[in-house]
Amino acid sequence: MTRAIPPPIDRRRLLCGGAALGLSSLAASPGRGLAATGPAEESLGALAAAKGLRFGASFATHELDAPYGPAYSELYAREARMITSELELKLFTLRPDALTLDFAPADRLLAYAQESDLALHGHTLVWNDGLPDWMKRLSPGEIRHLLDAHLMSVLERYRDGIPTWDVVNEPIAPWDRLPGNLRGGAFYEAMGEDYIAQSFRLAREYAPRCKLILNEAQTESDDENGRVFRESFLALVKRLTSEGVPIDGIGLECHLDTKRPYDFPRFAAYIEELATLVPDIAISEFDVNDRSLPDDIAQRDVAVADIYRRFLGAVLAVKAVRRLTLWQLADHTSWMYYDDARENPASGRRPRPLPFDDRFQPKRARAAIAEALAAMPAR
Ligand code: XIL
Repeated sequence: MTRAIPPPIDRRRLLCGGAALGLSSLAASPGRGLAATGPAEESLGALAAAKGLRFGASFATHELDAPYGPAYSELYAREARMITSELELKLFTLRPDALTLDFAPADRLLAYAQESDLALHGHTLVWNDGLPDWMKRLSPGEIRHLLDAHLMSVLERYRDGIPTWDVVNEPIAPWDRLPGNLRGGAFYEAMGEDYIAQSFRLAREYAPRCKLILNEAQTESDDENGRVFRESFLALVKRLTSEGVPIDGIGLECHLDTKRPYDFPRFAAYIEELATLVPDIAISEFDVNDRSLPDDIAQRDVAVADIYRRFLGAVLAVKAVRRLTLWQLADHTSWMYYDDARENPASGRRPRPLPFDDRFQPKRARAAIAEALAAMPAR
């Protein structure tokens, strides 16, 4: 079988970026640019901060261009203290083809965060999923070079504006049937498990003052899938920390699903165990998939809020949990909503996974978060 000849990589363009905007355009403006509509002390961000917890949600700049953009922005200014980049810093956004390094979306997000006085969390530098097709044509040597060049160019540009990073995302995927239940993909195929340690070491070198995080999904459910994820991830963290790999924090995504079984106290005990290895844990992408619940909106909202209450009650009791990030704040901006609208365009039912509805009004889940924040111990 013949192999397609990979396109040459222009090292200078990879390192410097073609369409880069000047960083001078990112100067911070003082204070919150947007008026808060509720009393600040009652916002979720303020309730969390009073206990030493950072609260926020993922954010996507394309939502600012929607008719509801100003209301979206106001909601974040009011409720959040930090945002996680949902799309803008992913490799497929930054590198749409082999020769382009497009910083414009990430520059826009950072400028927005600074104007709005929201801390920005970088998601994600290295991920074996969601990689652009052009990477499939690269040789192992070119992938290794790309990893280094990518970390260097992104971190040198943003290390002063973005203090915390998911360096490696979702290293575990048992269905790939690889040693350690690691996820396959371009970086794994080129470098084996070492792509993880190498990513953290390079990130430390290029951004010595940034906080470097290992982020993982699917560790929460009380079933075989959750058990395998928990054990495989814990074993990986043990290997990495025993080798002195510079991991400053762990993110546990927590995309919950009402059709799965949970034992939240047991999951909290798992977090305590992880925290003996890396004592700084984030719930990094929390939301609740309501697909198995009845259509009735009031019933669904009660059941989803009950999961919020029970889940947060258990995990926020663990003081090593220092950050709570939701995956968006309002239902119609959730990834689940977009997927559902694409897959079932005619459906009259849409997912309601988040604390605010499609008019940015608070739901029962918002009250459940506020109660959990008020009840948890201070960090
Ligand atoms: C999702 C985004 O929400 C979608 O908009 C995008 O199309 C795909 O990625 N785990 C992660 C996130 O770490 O990056 C994913 O975000 C959700 C699952």
